Amino acid sequence: GNLKQDELKRVAAHRVVEFVEPGMTLALGTGSTAAHAWDRLANLIRTGAFPGVADVPTSLKTEAHAARVGTPLLPLEVAASASGAGGIRLSIDGADEVDPDLNLVNGRGGSLLREKMVEGAGERFVVIVDESKLVPRLGCTGIVPVEVIPFSAPHALGLIRKVFDGVPGFHARLRTVPAAKGDGSDASFLTDNGNYIVEMFFEDGIRGDLRDISDRMLRITGVVEHGMFLGMATTVIVAKKNDTVAVIN
Ligand code: A5P
Repeated sequence: GNLKQDELKRVAAHRVVEFVEPGMTLALGTGSTAAHAWDRLANLIRTGAFPGVADVPTSLKTEAHAARVGTPLLPLEVAASASGAGGIRLSIDGADEVDPDLNLVNGRGGSLLREKMVEGAGERFVVIVDESKLVPRLGCTGIVPVEVIPFSAPHALGLIRKVFDGVPGFHARLRTVPAAKGDGSDASFLTDNGNYIVEMFFEDGIRGDLRDISDRMLRITGVVEHGMFLGMATTVIVAKKNDTVAVIN
């Protein structure tokens, strides 16, 4: 059940501190698994275990969380422009899906652009997941998000559909949330960057050359970024239901 899954997320998250060293600048991912890691790290920072550790947050939510627990924060432009010791040494995040080549789907919560920017700037990217996130193909268990510019978003949506023309069971739609006025109407979901999210559904996961599919999507004017994180993860920590933890490199 969900309690067990949350416990496994916590187990994976607590293992990640083994990768942290004093003085490191970390990229802070977003989501419930990442939040367990920040809580653990914040406790260790408070006890003096990691002097000089600073964090670059990947979302406004993570930034607020880190500020609340008292983690020292750095904006990306400061960390990314620092060469050598000052740059991001280690990125830590959960994932929505992990395939056998350690490609990820990330950003179902909507934070994919900042996650990709910040985590991609790191030297090493350690992903923390419970076993349920392991999939044979990306897109197997739920949506793949795409961040698009609000201007003429239905047009970009049409071009995204064209990339997957003829793929059985594929569909895509703009993410909506209940409107603030509470009259049952819907509003467009807005990312931290003021953009929209297109949700792509695949019946049986994405088949084909992921790099090629990624390139074709990124060439669409109006698409800002997508939630396939290809070749980015260097290590995945998997907490399993049989109470073992696998570290995959
Ligand atoms: C945030 O946009 C997401 O990418 C999360 O990192 C991802 O959804 C994993 O979330 P959980 O750790 O909550 O499962």
